[in-house]
Amino acid sequence: MTPMDMLLSRASTDRLRDPAPSPEQLMAILGTAMRAPDHGRVQPWRYVVIEGQDRPALAERIVASMARVEPEAPAAKIEKRRTRFASMPMIIALGMHLQPEHKIPLWEQEMCVAAGAMNILNALYATGFGGVWVSGALVEDAVLAAELGLSRLAGFLFVGTPDGAQPTPKRADPALFTARWHGQPVTFGADKD
Ligand SMILES: Cc1cc2nc3c(=O)[nH]c(=O)nc-3n(C[C@H](O)[C@H](O)[C@H](O)COP(=O)(O)O)c2cc1C
Repeated sequence: MTPMDMLLSRASTDRLRDPAPSPEQLMAILGTAMRAPDHGRVQPWRYVVIEGQDRPALAERIVASMARVEPEAPAAKIEKRRTRFASMPMIIALGMHLQPEHKIPLWEQEMCVAAGAMNILNALYATGFGGVWVSGALVEDAVLAAELGLSRLAGFLFVGTPDGAQPTPKRADPALFTARWHGQPVTFGADKD
């Protein structure tokens, strides 16, 4: 597979089984996050890795967080979250170590974390693994973030080896989201009725 084939065929998946990346593989994969564009060298990314016997404890913290931020959540949704967080081969909490007083605006720091996460998803795929980025109201929960040792959460990556039939989502035509500027404001095919 060429690098372009790889980038164009990657898809998120939560159909994951063991093995998760080994410690050595994981450091190589996370190394690609350090290649994300990082204005001002803020290095705002932080990763908390949870696997093996630590997963049930995380799942309980997730359920407790839902009780705080989503008290109306139906029992089925709570149980689904508990099961997923307790059983995914590896979970990586995406932390944002943001510096509000820094000359680099917060939104740029947050985008840097996102760019790093995208590199991780591509690196997982390139090395035969798979993953998906999930969030939810609980990423706003400062208590959950603190329990993980983070000041701010950007979500979680579920990580493992793709299992069974993998999604092949239809992708948008990039031409719809692209326009050439010739001195007047552009319009996009994607925004036309
Ligand atoms: C910040 C962020 C949060 C997301 N949160 C969720 C989520 O909670 N649940 C979910 O099903 N997908 C979530 N997604 C979308 C998936 O990660 C994924 O992009 C989507 O399933 C489409 O798959 P694709 O990456 O193959 O296009 C989130 C994506 C981003 C960037």
